[in-house]
Amino acid sequence: MKQPFNVVVLNGSPQASSRTRVLLATIVESLGWDASSVDSIALHELVPHIGGALLRDDLPLVAQEAFDRIESADLLLVGCPVYRAGIPGLFKHLFDLVDMSTMKGKRVLLAATGGSDRHTLVIDHHLRPLFAFFQALVLPVGVYAGPTDIISEEIVNPALRDQIALAAAAASPWLPQRDPVMSEVAA
Ligand SMILES: Cc1cc2nc3c(=O)[nH]c(=O)nc-3n(C[C@H](O)[C@H](O)[C@H](O)COP(=O)(O)O)c2cc1C
Repeated sequence: MKQPFNVVVLNGSPQASSRTRVLLATIVESLGWDASSVDSIALHELVPHIGGALLRDDLPLVAQEAFDRIESADLLLVGCPVYRAGIPGLFKHLFDLVDMSTMKGKRVLLAATGGSDRHTLVIDHHLRPLFAFFQALVLPVGVYAGPTDIISEEIVNPALRDQIALAAAAASPWLPQRDPVMSEVAA
């Protein structure tokens, strides 16, 4: 039987209360996916398990399982906040432990949030080179939300909504036309 199309959303914020989570959820919606049909992974939940792990084999089972889900994604929607003009160290640490052979050719959509508009290029200068190293297939359109774009868990900037729509349109050739669960049932 045909396997379901496996969308994994990875929020690379070390914080539980996260603007990046709001941005990623909006992108998922724009892609036409129901939140319940995608697999969401939050870095902040993994931090206690991965912080002290230097090697993949050091990870406890609960974290191994999350890594398995990231590695088996058909489409990875990845977002993180800007920290110190770059990506959070713990986010990079997670990808230091990912099996890089599973990332080759993986479809990836990138997003980021920042506390200023000065770091809009974090996607192109930090995230994109990381995924280029993995030889992932990264969508040319990324989505960055600045400090005034998300207020009270709402996207309030129409220009950001347009950028999200552009990313969703660019990603659409990657996606099956129907809900992933229904695609499996129909197969
Ligand atoms: C340790 C730390 C460093 C930060 N460094 C930057 C930075 O260099 N540039 C920037 O624009 N925002 C910076 N920020 C702000 C965050 O990027 C911004 O608030 C982001 O939206 C937080 O995302 P989150 O709510 O998903 O964690 C920093 C925040 C923290 C906690």
